[in-house]
Amino acid sequence: MVIFVSGNSWSISTTGTVDQRGRVDTWSDRFTLSLNIGSKKVAAPPVPGQFFMLRKKGSKNVLARPFSLYRYLERFGEMYLDFIIAKKGNGTEELSELEQGEKVDIMGPLGNGFPLPDANDRVCIVGGGVGVAPVVNLATRLPEDSYDFYACFKYSSFGLWDLPKRPFRVATESGLEGTKGTLEAILDVNILKERGYTIVYACGPTPMLKYVQTICKEANVKSYFSMESRMACGVGACLGCTVKTIEGNKRCCKDGPVFLGESVIFEDEIPKVLQGENEGPIDLSVRIAGVRFTNPVIASSGTFGYGVEYKNYINLGLLGGICSKGLTLEPRAGNDGVRVYEVSGVGMMNSIGLENPGIKHFIDNELAPMLATGAVVIANLSGSSVEDYVAGAKLLDGSKVDMIELNISCPNVKAGGMSFGMMPEAAEEVTRAVKEVTGKPLMVKLTPNAPDLVGVALAVKAAGADAISLVNTFQALAVDIETGKPVFNNTYAGYSGPGIKPIALRMVHEVAKAVCRDDPDYAVVGLGGITTWQDAVEYIMAGATAVQIGTATFANPKAMIEIISGIDGYMRQKKFRTVEEFRGILV
Ligand code: FES
Repeated sequence: MVIFVSGNSWSISTTGTVDQRGRVDTWSDRFTLSLNIGSKKVAAPPVPGQFFMLRKKGSKNVLARPFSLYRYLERFGEMYLDFIIAKKGNGTEELSELEQGEKVDIMGPLGNGFPLPDANDRVCIVGGGVGVAPVVNLATRLPEDSYDFYACFKYSSFGLWDLPKRPFRVATESGLEGTKGTLEAILDVNILKERGYTIVYACGPTPMLKYVQTICKEANVKSYFSMESRMACGVGACLGCTVKTIEGNKRCCKDGPVFLGESVIFEDEIPKVLQGENEGPIDLSVRIAGVRFTNPVIASSGTFGYGVEYKNYINLGLLGGICSKGLTLEPRAGNDGVRVYEVSGVGMMNSIGLENPGIKHFIDNELAPMLATGAVVIANLSGSSVEDYVAGAKLLDGSKVDMIELNISCPNVKAGGMSFGMMPEAAEEVTRAVKEVTGKPLMVKLTPNAPDLVGVALAVKAAGADAISLVNTFQALAVDIETGKPVFNNTYAGYSGPGIKPIALRMVHEVAKAVCRDDPDYAVVGLGGITTWQDAVEYIMAGATAVQIGTATFANPKAMIEIISGIDGYMRQKKFRTVEEFRGILV
């Protein structure tokens, strides 16, 4: 453990051990986390209002999360830091699952803390939700009869156990405890004046702080707020945690988190929560190029074989569609050397080289079991010349596949090996040629490596593509540092998985904006790093009619079923009847 002591403060970058004294409130997903940081003697404890950055040791999360200190204890020569945490996302979820004895990386104390009141101040303390943590910490440092404590919660109180005296008033929106309602039900400008408060300390949700600011201004009472912000570094380096003040933008981590209440500028509008009005049954079906899919989740090409490989693990009939492996006119043996390679925590690379048994074999042997699943069957067509594509498309046209997905990421051998999808002209030529020989609905799958992706999308649409899917894998490199050589024989390989999601999502949004501008029903199918139903909903909001799932299936064969179920749950909760009601709301 490294301890830096300066003046009367100390800061640590250390590892804490989870102690057993935590409390859990399963009703509202709140819990306390108690960390033993050992026996090192320090100059002075952290001050109320300061915070620590916490991250489970070895976590795959990139960033630590900031938490205000709830309690600092020294017992039998050991030091403990206690926090109150609400489960809200990956980081807090992970902390909630820690077991006694597990390790947490800790950095802090950080930020400024609350300035203490003068001896003749009349103190009002306000805490809302898990925001009670720093103000309870403050209250425990003040003389018992020097303050009143007001607390408000959605359901029930949490974290008030150690207050030296009972809270003056509690409000719960549920009515389970104290007065039913928000803070306004127990504290207003008249009470501030009548009780003669001269200083208010507050921490809680933004609407609560905004209200406290208003009544303090009216009553002419000084206030200090502990503010929250998303943080990356916690030490003032990244400039990512802005709090707007009358003196300009301030860093929440370094200039705060405690700010003079009257100096904080709150955003006027809290964005309206998206909500539909449907009370009846929901319909997950979508249409792509005239084909009905029972739901918007499709297994992507190259990640699901011909579907039957997964028949013992999931009910294939529940899927919206299944894309076959990339198919070529003639059988292909694929690439030598390493073919798959994990990029730890963020995805994988592959260089399969389109190994497949050829289109004829596919039609004669693989197609019938695929059709028997009940999902829409999409044949993914690849080739190395326009003639190859055309011949392959003719064969598929005579088969029972429901749709063709044209993979234009393949190298165009005649044009020197650059992929068809890199330039609008080549993409348009191959799309037009294939469209001329097939009556099957044609979806064209774009490569994200194209310098002008929107240009390629518009070109294939103009050439007759009935739908567009994107993105294929990103060209990437991995190096074996033992040999000093590329991991893959072809040097570069295709990168997929969660790491590409935000970039792929942006590309889907850009393409959807371009191709749907004058044609709102035109289908764009989004893929790239989707692992959860929330990812899928993001893609749909960005303009995708449906999504394809690939890499996620390798780790979790049930991923697609979970995503379908998650979208279903989301639509019920939001009262949407159809996917169309939230598709493309960003476009
Ligand atoms: Fe980096 Fe505040 S979190 S500047």
